[in-house]
Amino acid sequence: MQFVYDLVVVAHLLGMAALVGGWLVLLAGAGSTTVMAWGARAQLVTGLVLVGLAEGVSSLDEHLNHTKIGVKLLVAIAAVALLEIGRARTKRGQDGSGLVRAAGALGALNVAVAALWN
Ligand code: HEM
Repeated sequence: MQFVYDLVVVAHLLGMAALVGGWLVLLAGAGSTTVMAWGARAQLVTGLVLVGLAEGVSSLDEHLNHTKIGVKLLVAIAAVALLEIGRARTKRGQDGSGLVRAAGALGALNVAVAALWN
């Protein structure tokens, strides 16, 4: 089971790379937002799977900081929402780029929360 948990952590980090990496490409003035959107969605799903495994499988011996996870969940939901709204606006010919950029910043914020909040 430890291996499954570690695999989901790998997926979680790949989602993070897609969200934050896609955002950096965007800030550099190139690229589409599709990779960012899938990265943000992956973060929500893999994050929830990690919590389920950590809480449900006692042999993993994981003790999560629930306040930290709650903050990450809210930030990740906000990132997905901003991305979906921003992308929809862009598709309709309106300017959604500010919302998309804000979503990327929230992704980077969640990296800081994950790594610095012990
Ligand atoms: C944009 C969204 C997110 C980003 C960028 C992100 C980033 C990260 C990173 C970098 C780690 C590795 C930290 C370490 O090993 O020290 C991590 C671990 C983890 N994340 Fe996320 N995360 C996001 C969303 C979520 C969400 C929504 C949840 C759950 C609701 C979640 C739950 C977890 C758990 C359980 C771990 C492993 C245990 C821990 O280190 O706290 N993450 N995340």
